[in-house]
Parts: sequence; C-alpha cells; structure tokens
Amino acid sequence: MSKVLTSQHIAELRAYAERLHPELVDLRRTLHRYPETAFEEEKTAALAASLLEEAGLAVTTGIGRTGVVAELRGAVPGPTIALRADMDALPIGEETGLPFASERAGFMHACGHDVHTAILIGAARLLAAHRHLLAGTVRFILQPAEEINAGAKAMLADGVLRDVDSIYALHNLPTLPAGQVAVRQGPMMGSVDRIELVIEGKGGHGAIPDQSIDPIVAASAIVMGLQTAVSRELSPFDSAVVTIGSLLAGEANNVIPHRALLTGTVRTFSPEVQELMPERLKRLSSHIAEAYRCKAELRYIPQTPVLAGDARCVEQVERVARTLLGEDRLKEAQPTMAGEDFAVFLQHVPGSLFWLGSGPASRAEQAFGLHHPKFVVDEACLVEGVLMMAALALEESGQWTERGRPHQAAD
Ligand code: NI
Repeated sequence: MSKVLTSQHIAELRAYAERLHPELVDLRRTLHRYPETAFEEEKTAALAASLLEEAGLAVTTGIGRTGVVAELRGAVPGPTIALRADMDALPIGEETGLPFASERAGFMHACGHDVHTAILIGAARLLAAHRHLLAGTVRFILQPAEEINAGAKAMLADGVLRDVDSIYALHNLPTLPAGQVAVRQGPMMGSVDRIELVIEGKGGHGAIPDQSIDPIVAASAIVMGLQTAVSRELSPFDSAVVTIGSLLAGEANNVIPHRALLTGTVRTFSPEVQELMPERLKRLSSHIAEAYRCKAELRYIPQTPVLAGDARCVEQVERVARTLLGEDRLKEAQPTMAGEDFAVFLQHVPGSLFWLGSGPASRAEQAFGLHHPKFVVDEACLVEGVLMMAALALEESGQWTERGRPHQAAD
C-alpha cells in the first residue's frame, strides 16, 4: 500500500510518536490555557518557534504578521512539501470545566487549533529525528487568523508557498471517533463570503409612519427575499446558504429609526454558484429596498473559495491512512458548508485537507461540535495526527523523487 515507507519504517515512526505523546499532551494543554485570537497569536507563535528551533529547524517568524514558518532539509535533494496548522482561538467563553481550561475569560480554543499546532510540532520533531528517510524539504506552516479567513492570504503575500510542490493540512473533528481519518474527492467544504447591508430610510415618530420611511420593514422583507437567491435562482441540485446573522436597527419601541444594518454569511459548494451570488444579492436587496422607498447598499466581501483537494493528493491521504490506520479507519468525509482558510492555499498549489477524528469511540454524534463552549477532544488523536502528517511528507517526497519530477537542491 505504501509506496515508500516499509512496515518497519512505520513501526519505528509509530513507536516514536507514541513516546512523544505525553509531551505533546502537555504542549497542547499549555496552548489551551492561553488562547489567542486572530493575528494576536504572539505567545503561541513564540512558543512554537522556540520548540521548532530546539528540534533543529530553520525558523522564520512574522510571516503573515504572527505566522511561523520552519524548514527541515532531508538527506537528499527532493521536492518541497508543506504541512500546515492553524494557531488561533475564538472569542468564546469556555465551559468545559477541564483542569487546563482557558485562563483568558471570554476566549477559548473551541476549534482545536491548539491540537493542530501541537501535532505540527510533533510531526516536525518526528521528521527531524528521521531526516535520513526524507528527500527534499518539509516546510512547516503555522498559520494565524484562520477563523477570520485572513491568515492564509497574509502568509501568501509574504511568499509562504514559494517553491512548494504540494501542501497538506488536517482539522480535528469531534463527530468522528479519535484515530479515524476522513477525506473526499472533489468539493469537501463550502466557500465563505461575508455580506454587510446598510438600509437607509427616514426616521420619525412610531405613531406617524406616513411621515417616515421605515428601514425595519424593508430590512424584514430583504431578509425574507434574499432566501430566494437560493430557492428560486439555483438548480435544486446546487447548494448554497444565505444566513443573516445580525440585524441592528432602532433603540426605542415608539421610534422609526433612520437605518438598519444587516450582516450575513454566504456559503456555496461550487465556484460557479459562488461567482454569481454578489449580483443576485445586490439585485434583490436594492430592488426590495426600493419597493419600500428605502435605499440598500450591499457590500459583498469574498473570503475563501470552495475547498476541494487535488485528486492525486487526496489519493495520497487515503493511501497513507490505509497504511497507517487500516482500511476500516479511513472514511469518506461528509461534505459541509463550513469553510476553511486552507482553501486559499489550495488555489495556488496542489494539496489536500483531511479530517482527523477527535471524538469518542461511540456516540460520536453526541459530542459537542467545533466552536461549542463545551468542545473537548480525545487527546489520543495527537499520535495519529503526527503520524499522518509525517508519513504524508515522507511518502510525498519519496515518490516525487522516484518519479524524477523537477526538484530543487536540498543543499
Ligand atoms: Ni478550525
């Protein structure tokens, strides 16, 4: 099954990863205690950088503001394979009651990016200790600001993917039992765009509507009307979500306000559908507003594209998962409209993101999901995560060299 790694290599790697496990649990808990949000990952980045330096890697900080990049050179020339983890936490108050719960009130690693960071550092240590198996270079990318869909672009602007031949990432998933991996060919996660809508009316007395232009009534009609961009304008076989997540207008019960402010999120599952959403939403909102004598201005802010892995890289993840974990622990991922900033990297180089199970062995569907204040992970997944990432880099670099693909010198 494995094209490069022998079963003896795999046994060696697993034994090493298992020895690392207690340290990685400590590291993950340290990160968990001190969650930092988008572009504020100062302490997280400093700790990661010092551990990567300690492992003998060449480390650069300040890539994409608070991002960290580290490189490990193999024994012989080969390609550059990137492994990416995200570092940021969320503005969510933790309610797990864990002994290592967040010490920053109102902030929490509720998406498990602490786990991803610990796994990447574990993979770096594992690969550094097995440099003799590695051809080419592995670039470890610790990305900031995944949660606001801004970190990948910031790192790209700083050249993070220069000379990269392929890239891999994982995300933990509490509804998948720990020790399992899920991936799929084609679209796997939705595109993410943001909308901001200002509806201008004319304020006045709540008892005298004829002397006012009510933006709340227009906003209500727009919230309803925008749904038809999906239900009436898309094929029933295409998917999209338009959610208005905030509607702010007025302060007093008997006053018609001047304006209403709406924000929302737009998700799609194909670039073609995503491309036409701005026109649909602008047309609907401006014309509905006009019908109510208001003016609507919609700002459409594209954030991340649909996440779809490169076909060969997805196969590589499947092959490595079968080899390391066995056929029964590899699942086909369910598509989701949740988005991932990693999709931005995938627009530039071939790669794949896979789900790493982090939930209970049974009744996983009852686990608290990502972004929940009671979100917890089974830390056993750290071993599988480290193994998957390290083995992907080794398989990928070895195959690339064997096939004689163009590669840069390692020294
Ligand atoms: Ni996440």
